Amino acid sequence: MACLLVVLTLRQAAAFPLTGDQTVLPPGTDLNEEAFARPTEVFHSEAHGGFKSYMVDLGDLAFNSPTVLGGAARSAGMSCGTCHVNGAGNPRLYVPGMSTRPGNFDTTGALFNPKAHNGVLDPVRIPSLRGARFLAPYGNDGRIASLREFIRNVIVNEFSGPEPSPAILDAMVAYVEDIDFLPNLSLDSAGRLTARSNEAERRGEAIFSRPFPHDPAMSCATCHIPSGGFVDHKQHDVGSGGLFKTPTLRNVDFNGPYFHDGRFDRFDQVVAHFDKLFDLNLTPQERSDLVAYLTAVGDGLQPFERDGVSAQLKEINDFASVLEIAIPAHDLPVIELATTTVGQELRDLVEQFPDRRDAAVTGGLQERLAARGVLKDAVIRFRHIGTAAATGRFDEAQAEFMTYRKMSVAVLPVLLATAQPWSLFNPKIHAAHYAGLRQLLEQAGKLPRHASATAPAPAAGAATATAAR
Ligand code: HEC
Ligand code: HEC
Repeated sequence: MACLLVVLTLRQAAAFPLTGDQTVLPPGTDLNEEAFARPTEVFHSEAHGGFKSYMVDLGDLAFNSPTVLGGAARSAGMSCGTCHVNGAGNPRLYVPGMSTRPGNFDTTGALFNPKAHNGVLDPVRIPSLRGARFLAPYGNDGRIASLREFIRNVIVNEFSGPEPSPAILDAMVAYVEDIDFLPNLSLDSAGRLTARSNEAERRGEAIFSRPFPHDPAMSCATCHIPSGGFVDHKQHDVGSGGLFKTPTLRNVDFNGPYFHDGRFDRFDQVVAHFDKLFDLNLTPQERSDLVAYLTAVGDGLQPFERDGVSAQLKEINDFASVLEIAIPAHDLPVIELATTTVGQELRDLVEQFPDRRDAAVTGGLQERLAARGVLKDAVIRFRHIGTAAATGRFDEAQAEFMTYRKMSVAVLPVLLATAQPWSLFNPKIHAAHYAGLRQLLEQAGKLPRHASATAPAPAAGAATATAAR
């Protein structure tokens, strides 16, 4: 679920033992107004004509399940997917007291794991996991060579979670390793610009591999090796306060803010930094050529997809699909993980269809109520699958799952699609709903008035918006 900020500020405010006075959200904080787009997730298996394996679906499920984490994260409803949204980063995540700007986060703070707390507010940027299988060693400082060990460490040490079973850990690794870079038509398989590129980008490519004047053994390309995913798997001190691993430049257009702590917002700032650090003496023209090149390398096809009923249902059904194997195998831990996580996803989806109490939304009441009804019915079915399996009645669990399967291809998508125009997936309805929420937050003192520098102000009169069909 992408609505972390609202989740953290409203629903879970009480669950967070906030310290300090940083409970007011900074200007620019997004109140979920841009929730209609979510980062596109490209799976290696699907992109190559196959389908996601059981392992990948199970890993995806665990990745999006708060029960995998422990303590405060779990009770806040937070999962890996909260930060790494659809496997990408989350430039809008802001946890009061643990972030210094949207998009960064202190993984060694007291909140999620008092034992790892180091007493300093040292937040780091949330990295994208696209192409992670090419990006070892892991962590911004490259401290852990193995992805499996890194993920176990995140669960157990950073988020005080229970020791994951080897099966779940393997599945999470399989999932993360299946997340591909977005395709980029400007790059060939060796990381060189293709014929699509323009003059400036090509000049930038030449500068990128040109030896540095004071150290001819070095160029941008000796660390960001184009044929190797633009990384060298090494750590370097590039004047940013220590040793950090060379980050990939593939899809980097969508990975800001830049550097381990998110100190830079734009490529021209990064280029200026390296220009000074390595005494490159770049001309203004050369700098802008490098920026053009970085932008071309960092591009990706269709970086965002529209969020809505069909995207949500696909995800839920992918999660639920693990039951096809887990129920006949009597695999209780997986059945429990699937039924609780899918149940929560379905309940979150119910809230996308405001009920009659939401005065901000008029019209389509019957349709909204029908959508809520069918979703709640599905929630009950998953609960039933869980309890039946837990008491050894696997045939009953199987029958109930089959019933859900039938719903999921017929009545469920139809009723949800019919109600979609009056749901929060409609930008107008969404604006009206969040205008009301914003008011509540302002009254509660959680948000400075007129805080939003980037988010569009809700349109006047939107409070009575009806769906345009
Ligand atoms: C609260 C936000 C948050 C949550 C929740 C979270 N992460 Fe991260 N993740 C980060 C940050 C910040 C980093 C960078 C930390 C570092 O470099 O030490 C990171 C780094 C990573 C990396 C290393 C990427 C690389 O290229 O080096 C992986 C893999 C990863 N996370 C997987 C996970 C998994 C799996 C989970 C759930 C078990 C998870 N994360 C939960 C914020 C989060
Ligand atoms: C000595 C190795 C090295 C050289 C040479 C180098 N980089 Fe980097 N680059 C790094 C490291 C390490 C980081 C991450 C620093 C940090 O996280 O604090 C980085 C970060 C970046 C980033 C930000 C990516 C992100 O996601 O945060 C960009 C863009 C970049 N470099 C481009 C360049 C360009 C352009 C040049 C040449 C002018 C260059 N680099 C030269 C190692 C290098």
